[in-house]
Amino acid sequence: MGSLSNVLAVLSCIFFVVAIKRLGKVRTARQGNAIAALGMLLAVVAILLKQTDVNWAWVIAGVVVGSAIGVWAAKTVQMTGMPEMVALFNGSGGIASAMVAIAYFFLHSEKIGATMGGADPVWWSHDGTATLMLSILIGGLTLTGSIVAYAKLAGRITSAPILLPARHLMNIGLVAAAIAVAILAGWVAPWPWLMTILLFLLLAIAFVLGVTLVVPIGGADMPVVISLLNSYSGVAASMTGFVLKEPVLIIAGALVGAAGLILTQLMCKAMNRSLANVLFGGFGVADSTGTGGGGDYTTVKEAGPEEAAMILEDAQSVVFVPGYGLAVAQAQHACQQLANMMEERGANVTHAIHPVAGRMPGHMNVLLAEADVPYDKLIEMDDINPEFKNTDVAIVLGANDVVNPAALTDKSSPIYGMPILTVHEARTVFVVKRSLSPGFAGIRNELFENDNSLMIFGDAKDVLQKLIEELKNA
Ligand code: TAP
Repeated sequence: MGSLSNVLAVLSCIFFVVAIKRLGKVRTARQGNAIAALGMLLAVVAILLKQTDVNWAWVIAGVVVGSAIGVWAAKTVQMTGMPEMVALFNGSGGIASAMVAIAYFFLHSEKIGATMGGADPVWWSHDGTATLMLSILIGGLTLTGSIVAYAKLAGRITSAPILLPARHLMNIGLVAAAIAVAILAGWVAPWPWLMTILLFLLLAIAFVLGVTLVVPIGGADMPVVISLLNSYSGVAASMTGFVLKEPVLIIAGALVGAAGLILTQLMCKAMNRSLANVLFGGFGVADSTGTGGGGDYTTVKEAGPEEAAMILEDAQSVVFVPGYGLAVAQAQHACQQLANMMEERGANVTHAIHPVAGRMPGHMNVLLAEADVPYDKLIEMDDINPEFKNTDVAIVLGANDVVNPAALTDKSSPIYGMPILTVHEARTVFVVKRSLSPGFAGIRNELFENDNSLMIFGDAKDVLQKLIEELKNA
């Protein structure tokens, strides 16, 4: 059994690595997901095979309940609610690691007590001891941090940064307290009841730290935070792997930790922000005061579907620019239908993809892939931007911040420095949205007042369907 378990464990690690590689491309992502799930199943089987006294009733109950919740959540979640779901999954991963570490302590507290603390003051040099504390600390803060991130994204609490007084000092204090409690917990290991109390105190500090670290961060930065918490959940799992001496868990946790960190870095780069600025900057404070919000526009030009269709009739090159509103309206199929019509009329049609358009990485790619938009029609920001000046019509569909020229010109803007899609360089820009309301960053967009911009007010799907009808009759 032992060698079969080892073979399965190695196989599962290979599956995880292959899965991550496959997840990197839209075309192979589904397959990557399936391979990762299979890898996880192999890992679970590998570990169970090694156990001598498995309580199968508990194992099966866990698998059934967990799978049922997972299937239900995946089936019912809206595409736009995906980041919230990922946040909750990360939190669950974090607390699962912490709970496994605590369970290990309960099972082995006597052995731990005999070799640690008073018996050996350098307790942290023992296998799995420092990592037990880290697992509880990181797992605990991942849970509450993820819950706050979820609540902000889901609108359960204000998405504006909540700036607690002396928050940096408070966080430093909490980290220092966590370290002190962890050291003390190791010290009192010969008295398991005392160590138990201190481990739960450590968990409580971790819970508070998760909240105080995430509440000051604005809603617009939540996807970055979720990616970072994803990385933390991996680190917590890896730490628990050291506690249990389970290489599969160490490797899987390290992969999640590294992948989450790389994604965090990529997202920060796409917004032209440093991670420190995201975590400590209180970005979006202006949003909460309402300054610079929508409203104060004076020279906006509006067009109806009929006028817009007339302009499209003569267009030789069209770039669709999808944003969050396209996902809300579920207008991807209508978008593809209009794109096909324009191509049939001889126009060159592409779709411009901004790395942080929508609410999660790859949001627009996934949305348009759902409508069978060919991958080679999705053009990344750096490649499409030089093309806008040769474009007849740029059709902005529910995008706002990612096409806001203030990011290039207005140093006082909270999004200054974020690379944008330079749609304002196109000959004509259609901006399809329901009103003049701001986007996620809560700021006005001077694009709406540009000479070459035409606002087409309405739900993105309705407007596209009307444009399709007009063109059919043309
Ligand atoms: P936003 O700037 O959030 O703007 C979306 C626009 O869609 C809104 O102005 C809204 O205007 C419009 N809209 C909503 N429902 C609509 C509907 N049914 N039909 C038509 N329009 C509709 O979107 P964006 O340009 O995609 O920018 C994304 C924002 O999220 C950025 O600030 C980005 O930094 C942030 N963010 C994204 C990510 C990732 S990874 N994607 C990560 C972190 C932060 P109306 O209400 O007037 O219709």
